Amino acid sequence: MVVKKSWNLAILKGDGVGPEVIDAALPTLNVIKNHFNIKINIKYGDAGYYCIKKYNTNLPDKTIALLKESDMVLKGPMTTPEVAGSPESAAVKIRKIFDLYANVRPAKSIRGIKSLKDNVDLIIVRENTEGMYSGKEFMVGDDTAISMRIITKKATERAAIFAFELARKRKKHLTYVHKQNILKIGDGLFNNTIMEVYKKYKNVKIDSAHIDAMAQWLIKQPEIYDVIFTENLFGDIISDESAMVVGGMGIAPAANIGYNYAMFEPVHGSAPKYTNKDIVNPIATIFSIKMMFEWMGYTNASKLIDDAVNTLIKDGTVLTYDLGGKAKCSEVGQKIAGIIEHNI
Ligand code: IPM
Ligand code: MN
Repeated sequence: MVVKKSWNLAILKGDGVGPEVIDAALPTLNVIKNHFNIKINIKYGDAGYYCIKKYNTNLPDKTIALLKESDMVLKGPMTTPEVAGSPESAAVKIRKIFDLYANVRPAKSIRGIKSLKDNVDLIIVRENTEGMYSGKEFMVGDDTAISMRIITKKATERAAIFAFELARKRKKHLTYVHKQNILKIGDGLFNNTIMEVYKKYKNVKIDSAHIDAMAQWLIKQPEIYDVIFTENLFGDIISDESAMVVGGMGIAPAANIGYNYAMFEPVHGSAPKYTNKDIVNPIATIFSIKMMFEWMGYTNASKLIDDAVNTLIKDGTVLTYDLGGKAKCSEVGQKIAGIIEHNI
C-alpha cells in the first residue's frame, strides 16, 4: 500500500459492546496518528442491529455512501438477526459490496497470556465473498431447505494469491483446508485452483488437511502452521478456534482486504449481555487498528502497538477479566495508549 497524504477513515461503532471497544481503542489510534503525523479524517456512520428499527436495514444507504467516500473502515461488532427474511449481516454486505476478498486473521501467542503452545504464529486467510455466505437459500416445499455453497475459480484464485504472497513473506508454508472427500465438486474446484496458483510459488512449502482433521491439529500442534488458507465458513470456524488457542476472542483481530479498500474489525461478536458494563477486552479492536496501520504502510506503528500490549501483559495490573484481571475496557484502552506515548 502506498503511503498517502491523507486518509478518510469511516468508523462504524456497531452495537452491543461495539461502541465500548471502539471508544477504548481510539486513544491508541490518536496517539499513533499524531506521532507519525498521519492525516486521518474520521467520519462516523450508522450500521448494525439498532438501525433496523429506524431505517429498516442494518446498513443504511447513507452509510454505504459514507463508506464509498472513505479509504477504509474500522467496524465494531454487530448483532445479526437470525430469522429467515431478516437483513443479511452488515459485515457480510460490506465484504461483498467492496469485494473484500481476503479475510486475514492472525493468531500469535503472547508471553504472559495463556496459550496452548507458547510459540504459535499463524495467520488464517479466509476467502471472504462466497462459499456458504452466498446468501442463496430457499425452501423446497415445507420441509426441505437448500443452502448454496458457491465456489468460483475467480474468488478462490485471488484469495489464494493473497495467501501465497503472505506465506512467501513469512515462513514460506501454506496449509490449505477443505472437505473434498464430501464436497467433491466445490472443493475439487477450490483445491485445483490453489494448485494452479501454487505453480508460481514453488518456494512455498504446501500441505493440506480436511477441515475436521484441521480442527484437531490446531489444538494438538498449532505451532507448526504459518498461513492457513480456506473457504469462508471453514475459515470462520477455525479462526474462532485459533483465537482460543492463543488466549481467546478478546485479542483476535481481523483485516478484510480488497483491491483498494479494507475493513478492520475484531473477530468477536457484539456480546449483548456485556453491553455498557465496560468490561470487554479492547485488545482485539486495538490489534485491528494495528492491522489497519500495517495496511496503510506504517509498519513502525504496528511495532509500537505490539510492544505496548506486551508491556501491558507483562505488567499484569491492568487486564480485563478474560485475561484474569479486573480492569475496565476503557482503562485498558487508556493504558495501552499511555504506554505507546511513553515509548515514543
Ligand atoms: C466473523 C463473524 C461474522 C461472520 C458474522 C457476524 C456474520 O462471525 O466475522 O467471523 O460469520 O463472518
Ligand atoms: Mn466468526
